[in-house]
Amino acid sequence: MVPFYVILSIVAFIWITKIVLEKNKNLPPSPFPCLPIVGHLYLVKSPLYRALGKLSNRYGPVLMLQFGSRKTLLVSSPDAIEECLTTNDIAFANRPHLLAGKHLGYDYTTIAWSSYGDHWRNLRRIAILELLSAHRLQTLNSVREEEVRLLAKRVYESAIKCNGIVEMKSMFFELMLNVLMMMIAGKRYYGDSVLDVQEGQRFKEIVKETFGLMETTNVSDYLPWWKWLGGRALEKKFVDLRGKRDMFMQGLLDEHKQKLICGSEEEREIEKKDEKKNLIQVMLMLQEKEPKYYEDQLIKGLMQVLLSAGTDTSSGTMEWMLSHLLNNPEALKKGQDEIDNYVGEDRLLNESDISNLPYLRCIINETMRMTPAGPLVFHESRKDCTVGGYHVPSGTMLLMNVWAMHNDPKNWEEAKKFKPERFIGLEGSTIGYKLMPFGAGRRRCPAENLAMRMVGLALGTLIQCFDWERTSDEMIDMTEGTGLTMPRAKPLVAKCQPRKKMAKLLF
Ligand code: HEM
Repeated sequence: MVPFYVILSIVAFIWITKIVLEKNKNLPPSPFPCLPIVGHLYLVKSPLYRALGKLSNRYGPVLMLQFGSRKTLLVSSPDAIEECLTTNDIAFANRPHLLAGKHLGYDYTTIAWSSYGDHWRNLRRIAILELLSAHRLQTLNSVREEEVRLLAKRVYESAIKCNGIVEMKSMFFELMLNVLMMMIAGKRYYGDSVLDVQEGQRFKEIVKETFGLMETTNVSDYLPWWKWLGGRALEKKFVDLRGKRDMFMQGLLDEHKQKLICGSEEEREIEKKDEKKNLIQVMLMLQEKEPKYYEDQLIKGLMQVLLSAGTDTSSGTMEWMLSHLLNNPEALKKGQDEIDNYVGEDRLLNESDISNLPYLRCIINETMRMTPAGPLVFHESRKDCTVGGYHVPSGTMLLMNVWAMHNDPKNWEEAKKFKPERFIGLEGSTIGYKLMPFGAGRRRCPAENLAMRMVGLALGTLIQCFDWERTSDEMIDMTEGTGLTMPRAKPLVAKCQPRKKMAKLLF
């Protein structure tokens, strides 16, 4: 048996050699110590973006960390992020291969998980053209407006039942799931008029499991050997969920295929010409023309990614926005006055009003500045490159700390204060890389337009129809919970009073 001190000396030798070699490579600064095996994992605390923000304050905006076996570049200033997403945009256009992407991203082949290249470019083209373009969004705006009207109706009914007290987290979450499923498959699973209750129940269980798993940190992403010690149980959960999600989406696809096959020639022609096609219908038309490329798996992958990427990002933003407004009643009043003046009391707000409500837009921007739904954006380098004058090797995970940048007093005056007015007169390009809730560069969120419409429409309608206040004199607790999309620690509960004249518009 090899004596313990020999093993210790070998580990120490390898460790010191690694430090010396890396010093010579002009790598970015790195906190000391970087421990053998775990590297800087001992610095990881929840919420991660706050812990990493503290590190950047101490060591600078470009840092090299070692998360177990993964080299990680942490950037947190507008200049450093701009360099990563302009000069080095192609170099950093990959995503890291994490367990979630293997099982929930069909072995890294979906739009969100796939590496940069022809396949990813094509998926993005399809997503943008067929679902997210201004034209496609316009054709389905009645779907979103109807879902938001139903949301306001549910809030109204809930408020009447419970003395004005309403739990808003599930309201927003279910709104987004209904909207996205209507756009994807023409079905809604929450609230009244759910056609197939059992199918709806299965969908809800899958959604619960998916978002539960996405919040879990998978240790073997960073320490691969962990898989053999305690990581297998988690991987099994991913495998099981993958099966359930696949089966559910296949069911929806088959249902649409059946309609296409069984329909008469005339019905098929009408369906093809239908402007308001959902995503599955569009994809099946493409499959008919090019079956080898548009296989079922590609379509199911797109359906799943849009659902996962679009739901809690948007609903979380809505929940934070209302929380900020409840703590800042003067901003709430200003937003409400703007809507009253422009829309009036005789009709509900619609999507086309949003571009004429600049203060509402400022409230959304300020919410996304302080509480961005993507506080940390993950990419991976596909070749060697240089950031801030330092060498970054190929295969390095890039972590952009958007939260830290958005909340840094160097970038924003009175950064801790909710001040929508700071955005008056500012347009995207003027703000530059100081504000990037949707990311930037090649992999930026393809659904910014949809998200802005949804957040504006939902919150605008709720402000138009109800007077809102906190449930007590205490301020709303703004503590963040754990999870990739920065959820609130506690679901938001608020008090509302339906405004006179509005009830007639909802029923
Ligand atoms: C307020 C709402 C939303 C926010 C704040 C948000 C934010 C983001 C961010 C930060 C990224 C990563 C960008 C990058 O890697 O550089 C992203 C990617 C993505 N988002 Fe969104 N998003 C929102 C809503 C949506 C919606 C509604 C959908 C779809 C229905 C969507 C679909 C996607 C997809 C597919 C990607 C991956 C793009 C790629 O890898 O090429 N997002 N989003």
